Amino acid sequence: MAKILIVYHSQTGNTEKMAKAVAEGAAGIENTRLIVKRAFEATLEDLLNCDGIAIGTPENFGYMSGAIKNFFDRTFYPSQGKIFKKPYVIFISAGNDGRGARNSIERIALGYPLKKIYEPVIARGKITDEILEQCRELGATLAGGCEMGIY
Ligand SMILES: Cc1cc2nc3c(=O)[nH]c(=O)nc-3n(C[C@H](O)[C@H](O)[C@H](O)COP(=O)(O)O)c2cc1C
Repeated sequence: MAKILIVYHSQTGNTEKMAKAVAEGAAGIENTRLIVKRAFEATLEDLLNCDGIAIGTPENFGYMSGAIKNFFDRTFYPSQGKIFKKPYVIFISAGNDGRGARNSIERIALGYPLKKIYEPVIARGKITDEILEQCRELGATLAGGCEMGIY
């Protein structure tokens, strides 16, 4: 069984739509157990106990949202040595950019270290059907690979 953690923050609902699509994609893989949490509610145990993690954030001021940063702040030291190269993916909702959020998460992920297993999905502006489909694919790729143990 693959345990997939989806941690996200969303203020106006865009990243939440993406999180739901990532969850749908992951749920389509047999034997997947899903845990979906908003970043402020996600715990160290959630991180330690999952086989793969999907991280979703809006871009705020050229960076990840404060809530996702808070999740990293709370879990970084106590997870050291316990989650070596755990697979992760990112999804981002931005007004028009997204690079700052992406770069900031990827830099921190190197420190844990987490292992990036797929290119991020970055929505700029409206959350289109195409973006939602990419999110489903992202979730299915993470869950499918974890289930097969290929990461
Ligand atoms: C405080 C704040 C800062 C923002 N900064 C950026 C930014 O630096 N770059 C960008 O592309 N969009 C920026 N945006 C736009 C949001 O990323 C965008 O509206 C996103 O879809 C919000 O996602 P949400 O609905 O999940 O909260 C910002 C929005 C807010 C509220």
